[in-house]
Amino acid sequence: MASLTIRKLDDGIKSYLRLRSAKNGRSVEEEVRVILREYCEGSPAPASSLPPPSPAPTESPAVERTGPSVGQPSVTLIIGGGIAAFKALELIRRLKERHIDVRCVLTRAAQQFVTPLSASALSHERVYTDLFDPGSEFDAGHIRLARECDLIVVAPATADLMAKMAHGHADDLASAILLAANRPILLAPAMNPLMWNNAATRRNVMQLRRDGIHMIGPNAGEMAESNEAGVGRMSEAAEIAAAAVDILRPPRPRPLAGKRVLITAGPTHEAIDPVRYIANRSSGKQGFAIAAAAQAAGADVTLVSGPVELRDPPGVTVIRVESARDMLHRVQAALPADIAIFAAAVADWRVANEGEQKLKKTPAGMPPLQLVENPDILATISKLEDKRPPLVIGFAAETEHLIDNAKAKIARKGCDWIVANDVSPSTGVMGGDRNTVHLLTRNGADIEVDSWPVMTKEQVAAELVAKIAKAVENDS
Ligand code: CTP
Repeated sequence: MASLTIRKLDDGIKSYLRLRSAKNGRSVEEEVRVILREYCEGSPAPASSLPPPSPAPTESPAVERTGPSVGQPSVTLIIGGGIAAFKALELIRRLKERHIDVRCVLTRAAQQFVTPLSASALSHERVYTDLFDPGSEFDAGHIRLARECDLIVVAPATADLMAKMAHGHADDLASAILLAANRPILLAPAMNPLMWNNAATRRNVMQLRRDGIHMIGPNAGEMAESNEAGVGRMSEAAEIAAAAVDILRPPRPRPLAGKRVLITAGPTHEAIDPVRYIANRSSGKQGFAIAAAAQAAGADVTLVSGPVELRDPPGVTVIRVESARDMLHRVQAALPADIAIFAAAVADWRVANEGEQKLKKTPAGMPPLQLVENPDILATISKLEDKRPPLVIGFAAETEHLIDNAKAKIARKGCDWIVANDVSPSTGVMGGDRNTVHLLTRNGADIEVDSWPVMTKEQVAAELVAKIAKAVENDS
């Protein structure tokens, strides 16, 4: 059956169709369907009302449009204006690799960084730039671009675009689509760290989150501007594509629904004086990934974290602390829990007498730093008589004799499972994105060791949460 491309019709017919469809509150395509139906049923539109034919349009699309594929999810990708716009081209590729149709909208500012032609070539679709586009068969284009898709992704989401969204502005195609949307929206913010931290942006972000808008990033790192670093870099294309797939995917099973999970993460800082502290290289990434995975599995998650540069995982209650003693108090206050996972790299020692003033260099030499042991949070909670969570999981960070030391730790601390990882500098685990772990579980008097291959910290988290879900299911 032949398909009809409205864009290629005579201008006169197009304007007749536009007028008629606007009058009837339909899209042009729907209006054409109605006319054809009426014609077949014997009540065609009066010929006198049809416009005279006009010369064929000379313009032809640079890239042949393939149209959405049947059964494939589709994304309207709004590319905002910013240096990160070039990553949006990579994002088109990543989405298409995942069998997602992509239809792009470029803001005026985005066109300073990428061209409609490149977005069109990658998406195999026409690209939209104007709110009032006479050449578009997308009648009331913003409405259809907002609704004839499964998800709207904005990458980069600039501070300006987010401000417009938060306040309901619709003065260009991108903001009109976002205001007219009845589909989920995923933003990948990208901006200068000062703009991200500006009070106005913070308010807008909070409002957008409250409005149910999904966000990925921004990440911390170097900015395109020279000598600038901080939180503001747009997430990588693969991360955004993965987040889009997560939203598009049918709802996942929630094996930990109704369970309370308590997690510690990150390092602790132990003050020496008001300006100095003892710390370690933990990034908190593994604990945060576990919190996100447990939340995705339906758990009610509380994450007690030492000082880290990570965003709060969505839907997780995050309590930020400094020292080991703060962490212990907040963990105790967060009980009861069904499952407790201690991923924090807690400092073993603190300074006995924290200086009230900054320690000064004196001719007498270096100040003696007397250390005292910190409370062991994992051991304290494992040994509780009343509020001990039914499943307590510790981590073992080792640089030698990994399994033997981990076995000794499980016994000494009284937890049920231990996730042992080699944190020698050569592994890159501390601060890195990957981890190689061994899961030690008690089986009566024996301890079983399950060695996992090298994985990303997110994969380790997903695997651990799957094991926990299985254990919880077996116990119930
Ligand atoms: N842990 C804790 N409180 C501490 C020290 C450690 O809760 N004061 C927890 C960690 O969160 C981890 C486990 O105990 O789950 C093991 O931590 P690790 O640093 O590997 O061992 P340590 O107990 O510090 O022992 P060592 O330094 O001798 O290896």
